[in-house]
Amino acid sequence: MSKITILSEIKRDKPFNEKLPKINSKEFDKVIKSRRSIRVFTNEIIPNDIIKKSLDNSLKAPTSSNLQTWEIYWIKSKNIKKKVIEACLSQPAAKTAKELFVFVSRPDYWKRNNQMMLDYLNSKKNPPVGVLKYYSKITKLAYNQGFMNIFGFLKKIYVSIVGLYRVIPREPTSFSDMKVWSQKTTALACQNFMLSMRAYGYDTCPMEGFDSFRLKKILKLPKKAQICMTIGAGKRDPSGVYGKQFRFDNSMFIKEV
Ligand SMILES: Cc1cc2nc3c(=O)[nH]c(=O)nc-3n(C[C@H](O)[C@H](O)[C@H](O)COP(=O)(O)O)c2cc1C
Repeated sequence: MSKITILSEIKRDKPFNEKLPKINSKEFDKVIKSRRSIRVFTNEIIPNDIIKKSLDNSLKAPTSSNLQTWEIYWIKSKNIKKKVIEACLSQPAAKTAKELFVFVSRPDYWKRNNQMMLDYLNSKKNPPVGVLKYYSKITKLAYNQGFMNIFGFLKKIYVSIVGLYRVIPREPTSFSDMKVWSQKTTALACQNFMLSMRAYGYDTCPMEGFDSFRLKKILKLPKKAQICMTIGAGKRDPSGVYGKQFRFDNSMFIKEV
């Protein structure tokens, strides 16, 4: 096996210059600092365009190999909403939420999306050779775990031996690794969504207090799909802020090495 190329190593034939907008960092800080997990929402309706913009913003999150192995269920049906609330243990953040969203990671979609990426690249006049190679060879090696994880197991042995002598990407080599891989990407979409809602004057509460088995059944999701978070959204009711934001001291977590 030759040296494994990662996406960021692939050089473009032509430089691409993206215009950078001016950013008001103070406003950004305000968004970060005022985002709280809100447990009680008012009855105020969230305008559709704000929801759509925030959903769009959520899908602008970075995603591993740009494979976008995520799905967002915007719960619109009253009947499904009732069931989702129950599956979320009827917690107040779900019960009072004006809108409910279920963010789902789909590690099983890597192959489909990889093919979509190849189709997209091949539809271009001069697809970049390095990127084409990445999606036709490298991702297939990286994300394929094979029948009964046999290929993943062989990869694990390979990386353990070769890794003794040189730097090598070690995961994913199992479906569990694939779940973690896809959950990371989906969690970033969740955060984009919550910050976007905040920036537009609305609030959210991420929830993992739910019955994943029932929730998957309600949404007709296959076994390999993983619920990342359920997010309740709406206008915050002052009683929905349960206290001052508390974090342990930064020095415990930020290591300068
Ligand atoms: C993955 C995840 C799962 C969470 N699950 C719940 C939940 O089920 N119910 C809830 O009320 N809050 C939930 N929270 C919110 C946290 O309790 C909250 O983020 C934390 O207490 C810090 O408060 P803050 O978000 O206001 O800063 C969850 C947060 C995360 C990131």
